[in-house]
Amino acid sequence: MEKMVIEGGRPLRGAVSVSGAKNAALPIMAGCLLGGGRHVLRNVPRLRDISTIVRIMEQLGVRFDEGEDFLGVDASDLSGYEAPYDLVRTMRASILLLGPLLARQGKARISLPGGCAIGARPVNLHLRALVAMGADMHLDQGYIHATAGRLKGADIFFDIPTVTGTENIMMAAVLAEGRTVLRNAANEPEVKDLADLLRAMGAQIEGDGGDIITIEGVESLKGVEHTIIPDRIETGTFMIAAAMTGGDVSISGCRPEHVGALMEKLKSAGVGVEVVPGCIRVQGSEEIRGVDIKTMPFPGFPTDLQAQFMALMCVARGSSLIRETIFENRFIHVSELKRMGADIEINGNQALVRGRERLSAAPVMATDLRASACLVLAGLAAEGGRTEVSRIYHLDRGYEALDVKFQGLGAAIWREKE
Ligand code: EPU
Repeated sequence: MEKMVIEGGRPLRGAVSVSGAKNAALPIMAGCLLGGGRHVLRNVPRLRDISTIVRIMEQLGVRFDEGEDFLGVDASDLSGYEAPYDLVRTMRASILLLGPLLARQGKARISLPGGCAIGARPVNLHLRALVAMGADMHLDQGYIHATAGRLKGADIFFDIPTVTGTENIMMAAVLAEGRTVLRNAANEPEVKDLADLLRAMGAQIEGDGGDIITIEGVESLKGVEHTIIPDRIETGTFMIAAAMTGGDVSISGCRPEHVGALMEKLKSAGVGVEVVPGCIRVQGSEEIRGVDIKTMPFPGFPTDLQAQFMALMCVARGSSLIRETIFENRFIHVSELKRMGADIEINGNQALVRGRERLSAAPVMATDLRASACLVLAGLAAEGGRTEVSRIYHLDRGYEALDVKFQGLGAAIWREKE
């Protein structure tokens, strides 16, 4: 295992470029199962979660070829229909294979993802929608066994706008017989990116980006080329890092319209934010003011940036009330931030952060992906020596070469064996 070592207190300066979005790349790779022929995907981030889905898809008979700037995915000859426990337990997003496998193969056997550090994270809405489309579903020895003839279009209402649920059912519906309407659908940019891929493959989808998505099923889909959108959470992480260290960073290759909520909050906190097409410049200020946030579905403040924003609020002037409304246990980073001197009080789904002048370096432990990023940011801003963030395998699930990118901005950060 590796840990990240950081000598904080240096303002980050310079330019950094954002990688492709993990949460767009995963459903898009699953979507490639739907069409015979070879797909060429560009801007696929090099991450542990991507290697995991590649391993599962290889077991299904998918062939991959890789170049400097592309990933070839050929699902012409599918032979399997199973996502095994030992891989699913390392990446819950494997559930995204369920819809495409059912649509293409008429059967799927997927290990039911368990809870994770941030919450119980059930998949009942995915399963209920597939049953409404005619699938037969039962659970045996921890596996979802699903079978179906050709799925049938249905009118689906999601109780909660679930991101991977919307993606899964959209993928199931593109090859179904007739029309599927998804109501209260998720409108995250990653859902739209998947819809763009599927449309290019020949699917008929309308309304993505809004909360009602209509899909007319087609008989077959073809292989295409697609470029994955930039990662808005990585973008936001760099923006917060620049603000937190009092730096001046230009973030290129990003989509400013995907981080609107964060931009507004940073401006309210007194941080300089300047937008030019494809690029955001963030300049820290002498004094960061405490501001409140509430996590919401897109375009609200993303839950995946809550932990990182909390790190910033730890060194703000005044206090900040942070409300987490998406996941029930997404404050696990708080006890680690406290080890670095943060003053945070949790009450249910609210955290009251009383800003301090500084955080102090300390050994801390990463517990999930975004919590790890939060601790790295805290370490970059901390004074008084080395912050060591252990268990950074969580970080490598979702950030491409984060240490190298921070080094390029002047940070003293490196990996060591634990
Ligand atoms: N929910 C249900 N039943 C379901 C599905 C969801 O009750 O069948 C609940 C969840 O428990 C949660 C809420 O609905 O309380 C929203 O969850 P959602 O399904 O939208 O989350 P997800 O699809 O499992 C994706 C991202 C997460 C991100 C969330 C919210 C991927 C692969 N994952 O998860 O990303 O936090 O949407 O935006 O797209 C991360 O990258 O660190 C990460 C956790």
